[in-house]
Amino acid sequence: MSQAYALLEKWVRAVREVTDFTPEIGIVLGSGLGDFARLVDRKAEVSYDSLPGFPVSTVAGHAGKLIFGYVRSVPVVVMQGRVHYYEGYSMEQVVAPIRLMGLLGAKKLLLTNAAGGVNTSFTPGDLMLITDHISAFVPSPLRGENPQELGPRFPDMSRVYDKEMGRAVLTAGEKLGESLQQGVYLQWQGPNYETPAEIRMFRTLGADAVGMSTVCEAIAARHMGLRVCAISCITNMACGILPQPLSHEEVQQTANRVKDKFQALVLESLESFHHLP
Ligand code: HPA
Repeated sequence: MSQAYALLEKWVRAVREVTDFTPEIGIVLGSGLGDFARLVDRKAEVSYDSLPGFPVSTVAGHAGKLIFGYVRSVPVVVMQGRVHYYEGYSMEQVVAPIRLMGLLGAKKLLLTNAAGGVNTSFTPGDLMLITDHISAFVPSPLRGENPQELGPRFPDMSRVYDKEMGRAVLTAGEKLGESLQQGVYLQWQGPNYETPAEIRMFRTLGADAVGMSTVCEAIAARHMGLRVCAISCITNMACGILPQPLSHEEVQQTANRVKDKFQALVLESLESFHHLP
């Protein structure tokens, strides 16, 4: 058994001592979306620091717990607060919580994040359904010994983001009268924001949005066969597009401004995910 899998099994046992709740959908709440967790009819909670060796976020605004319960009768596990590669964790550590959600029974995964708009037709406050990604600027979370129990050494990535789940999000957007952007998300290692030259390069490469998370999580989830859907909140235009410098405050302010619309979209989408075959 790989070391990574042995640790995951330990966490599964620790969670199972607290609750036997089986989630259908795992949800990762990105910057600004944290208070979506209050919409969960809670059945159990496990704080990250009660799981030995579980990566704990160092970023303000990312609380650290797994919340089990129902959102409009859909059984979910919500990861309130994620860890990022830039915090100094290995990629394997960064994706460990995703793997745990899979081992606890989640079959589908919804990832959310804050991102910079690389596509100049975007506006801060837009929501973007991720249709594909570019992971070339960060290491693969699958590097190293392959936990064979989870998935194959060389997993296919021809369709990371599930078509039906994506369609459900677009339909939810229509229902709410919100037109969503769609595009390619590129994971940048951070924590510094990009330079204008890097953003021009990313645009040339086909990226529509840039951020510091999500892609590694999506890869780990696909490795173990989960269906994946991801939505970005475009909190700012990427570096060099507008005259002003980038700031974490702008990211937080925009995320906060659109959180009601983001939450409504997630709520509406979850119900449709539940009914997918
Ligand atoms: N770049 C990288 N990550 C981000 C950005 C950005 O412009 N905005 C929010 N997260």
